[in-house]
Amino acid sequence: MSSHGDPIVMIARKSAGLKGEAHVPGDKSISHRSLILGAMAVGETKVTGLLEGQDVLDTAKAMQAFGAEVEKRGDTWHVHGVGVGGFAEPGNVIDCGNSGTGVRLIMGAMATTPITATFTGDASLNKRPMARVTDPLALFGARAYGRSGGRLPMTIVGAADAIPVRYATPVPSAQVKSAVLLAGLNAPGETVVIEREATRDHSERMLTGFGAQVTTEETDEGRVITLVGQPELKPQTIIVPRDPSSAAFPVCAALITEGSDVLVPNIGLNPTRAGLFFTLQEMGADLTFENMREEGGEPVADLRAKFSPDLKGIEVPAERAASMIDEYPVLSVVAAFAQGKTHMPGVKELRVKESDRIDAMATGLRLNGVEVDEGEDWWTVHGRGFGDVKGGATTQSHLDHRIAMSFLVMGLATEEPVRVDDGGPIATSFPIFESLMTSLGADLGREA
Ligand code: S3P
Repeated sequence: MSSHGDPIVMIARKSAGLKGEAHVPGDKSISHRSLILGAMAVGETKVTGLLEGQDVLDTAKAMQAFGAEVEKRGDTWHVHGVGVGGFAEPGNVIDCGNSGTGVRLIMGAMATTPITATFTGDASLNKRPMARVTDPLALFGARAYGRSGGRLPMTIVGAADAIPVRYATPVPSAQVKSAVLLAGLNAPGETVVIEREATRDHSERMLTGFGAQVTTEETDEGRVITLVGQPELKPQTIIVPRDPSSAAFPVCAALITEGSDVLVPNIGLNPTRAGLFFTLQEMGADLTFENMREEGGEPVADLRAKFSPDLKGIEVPAERAASMIDEYPVLSVVAAFAQGKTHMPGVKELRVKESDRIDAMATGLRLNGVEVDEGEDWWTVHGRGFGDVKGGATTQSHLDHRIAMSFLVMGLATEEPVRVDDGGPIATSFPIFESLMTSLGADLGREA
């Protein structure tokens, strides 16, 4: 599946129970960070379980363009890093494809090295706001020249003599936090990021693993993260856990498809990522965590999800939003099959993802017979209960992998099939989605 070729129309039909084990790919957030920090270490980092989705492959290519050696031998990715401050100036434009994480983290990583790089992306990425990253990077001394509204394509001129920064993030964003921390690596002294709401902390964990000094303090201002600049990063051996955001799709599909019993092994359950699973349990889902353990500094469990005909709509706490920000599209599908309303406040950030996810899901849900109310930073799905969701419409994925997968999950349990106008973007994060879901018994695929 390619996000650049002709549209791939996909269809999902009402399916018999999903059964078996769903081995989902590696975590996207951790995969990007493994390559970027590997490229900034001195020597060879080895990564297994890397997500080989287009987003991460674009980051791998970018790291090569900045001078790191990146290659796959057998099952292992080898990243030969150039050290903090060692990036070379790329000879061409860096194309980050669909990936906001890729472009924002790489901009941060190069912003305190005296080189110039120009970034671009696909039609989705080139609409997304970059000022949230270039504003704090300017405080280090970097300059950014982009299109109006702070959009890509954009050129960043890295600071020659970076100064460290103290920055309170105005939006709850792990990408912004991470960009500042990565920039802080090549600034002398302490760089401090303050976030009001805790967002995913993979950068902090991994920076510590690579030997940087990072401390996190909970204060009245929020979470205060301090990084000591100019460390020598030591190469690591990284085993990437499987992605909870990808696990969400087979899990949610099993909950709404009659007769299902699916095991999703080895899922990273970092508390800054696991909000969806607690929300589903509160809705009455038959979802259990088996074999809880710790691997590579991250909590991991096997998830078991069974058909759950008696789901109830709930109020999803706004303070949980950051820990499940990528999971609202598929949650809204589950909510359609629950009894009563599911209200989701505090989610303004959904409007600036790969698509405006509130708009994309609300439009598609309505077309398929589900009532949705929305405001700028909230939405409410009026659940119809199991067996009463009509389906039958063609929905638009808007170059957004999670929108495409969410509607295909929905079609497994609606009365009539659900079509998606383009499943191509699924390859950015979950290239084996179609084969994995069909191996469980899902009736989905490409339309002839
Ligand atoms: C990510 C952070 C989140 C998330 C994205 C991955 C990351 O974005 O939506 O899929 O790896 O840091 P924001 O930082 O914009 O919330």
